Amino acid sequence: MTDIDIQQLQVELNQKKPRAILKKALELYDNIAISFSGSEDVVLIDMAVALRKNIQVFCLDTGRLHPETYRFIEKVRKHYHLDIELLTPDRDVLDRFVKQKGLFSFYEDGHQDCCQIRKVEPLSRRVAHLDAWITGQRRDQSLETRQDLPEVQIDTTFSTEEHQLVKFNPLLNWTSAQVWDYIEAYEVPFNELHEKGFISIGCEPCTRAVLPNQHERSGRWWWESGAKKECGLHADNIKNDVTSFLNS
Ligand code: ADX
Ligand code: SF4
Repeated sequence: MTDIDIQQLQVELNQKKPRAILKKALELYDNIAISFSGSEDVVLIDMAVALRKNIQVFCLDTGRLHPETYRFIEKVRKHYHLDIELLTPDRDVLDRFVKQKGLFSFYEDGHQDCCQIRKVEPLSRRVAHLDAWITGQRRDQSLETRQDLPEVQIDTTFSTEEHQLVKFNPLLNWTSAQVWDYIEAYEVPFNELHEKGFISIGCEPCTRAVLPNQHERSGRWWWESGAKKECGLHADNIKNDVTSFLNS
């Protein structure tokens, strides 16, 4: 693969529509994958399968997802005839963590350690073998952490000296309403939890339904303050807020 100037690419993709960003990402990178868990990500899958065959899709199976979410993953797998790769936490590290801190330590000392083990470390293992990944992040999901999302960026969390990882955020400028208009128009599968008042959906113990007009991410890690509502997958949105049980 030839060297791609990411700053120049960002200038080119600035304010482009999701499909155009996705198309460019899939043209430029063969070894690229969609990181899938929610509604936004299925919209990206829906667009991607029309643009290219052999789309790589993975999902972080933390072991703590809702039963509805597992059914949703299966629905998406069948609908698009996709091999969705489920990434699981390192068994030894998880055993050690649960033995030491139990199953609900995040309510007492924050979600970072658990997210590090169940999400961030499995993701870091997978992206080490990718040139680029695609997320469904949107700017309006968080005033605190996602306002400055670019269309494309060097992933400063998971790049190393030897391996540069690029991250695309094709839906950054869409609102939730635009995502749901697309889902309705193209009959895209969605998580049945959305019919029960859930908007942003993560792990079962760390997600709750929200009331009308509450912000969509207020149901995530609701016992913590807004600024910390990133699990570490997108730590480059907050720069300095990730602790690591792995290093302890
Ligand atoms: S999180 O960092 O707070 O959990 P959020 O739920 O907003 O993230 O999702 C933002 C994007 O991160 C998703 O569109 C998806 O690309 C990726 N993502 C989040 N959770 C997962 C997961 N369990 N598996 C794969 N990708 C995920
Ligand atoms: Fe653990 Fe909650 Fe993070 Fe899931 S969201 S990995 S259960 S702290």
